[in-house]
Amino acid sequence: MCAVIDRPARILVIAGSDCSGGAGIQADIKAITCLGGYAMTAVTAITVQNTLGVSAIHPVPVEIVTGQIRACLDDIGADAVKIGMLGSWQIVEAVADALAGVRVPIVLDPVMVAKGGAMLIEAEAAEMMVMRLLPMASVVTPNTPELIELTDTEIEDSADTLLAAQELLNAGPRAVLAKGGHLPGDSVSDWLVTRGLQRSFTSPRIDTRHSHGTGCTLAAALACGLGQGLDLEAAVVRARAFVAQGLATAPGFGAGQGPLGFAPLP
Ligand SMILES: Nc1ncnc2c1ncn2[C@@H]1O[C@H](COP(=O)(O)OP(=O)(O)OP(=O)(O)O)[C@@H](O)[C@H]1O
Ligand SMILES: [Mg+2]
Repeated sequence: MCAVIDRPARILVIAGSDCSGGAGIQADIKAITCLGGYAMTAVTAITVQNTLGVSAIHPVPVEIVTGQIRACLDDIGADAVKIGMLGSWQIVEAVADALAGVRVPIVLDPVMVAKGGAMLIEAEAAEMMVMRLLPMASVVTPNTPELIELTDTEIEDSADTLLAAQELLNAGPRAVLAKGGHLPGDSVSDWLVTRGLQRSFTSPRIDTRHSHGTGCTLAAALACGLGQGLDLEAAVVRARAFVAQGLATAPGFGAGQGPLGFAPLP
């Protein structure tokens, strides 16, 4: 007799810590857990932050980042990987090396600037990310400022976003999910672009200041969906629904941009 093992998808998150729990690995763990996955983490940096902004960043030594990745992959294994804040080029290089033989979906959130404006990556690290990690990514999820930076183009609307997303696709990722949360308007549109597909996902803009960690949460939810075997479009639809629910149910914590609400989808 053959037993069917129904286990949660194993999702390895490589990202920075947000002590206030709204973004970074804390948000990723909550999102993955709510969506039925099993979250593991390789912490790249410890940030001191809250809803008002980032006040300090303490990078984790490169060998400890690599060690965490190996410890997870060599023992438990992973069904998908999410990469968030990396910080230095040394960490980018180490992560690329550590993931070189990994054959599961990789979601790359090219975190560059925090919502409050703090720089989260060095210039050399951004270059290294383009060279080493973009080609390994199943999907890369830039926000508008990151897409402008990565493609050196002007973006003022959704049409510009599509053009820039197509350009970023030429840098080697298998898909680009270009987020539109930063563009003005009553609705928010994200573009999903692959070599065979251009699809925009549009939903009403939720009017709230509590949007800390939307990008981290979206990328973690996306990685979880891919690890659970959803196809890319279905994983995007569910991840966007999870972020929208989080924005609509934000608990209102903190004096600034507060965290999302985290709960399983109905
Ligand atoms: N006010 C909003 N209402 C509905 N959806 C939103 C809103 N703001 C952002 N989103 C959605 O949240 C997701 C993240 O987009 P956003 O552009 O905010 O990413 P980000 O800037 O990387 O976030 P972060 O600053 O947390 O890193 C996208 O799917 C976007 O459409
Ligand atoms: Mg972001």
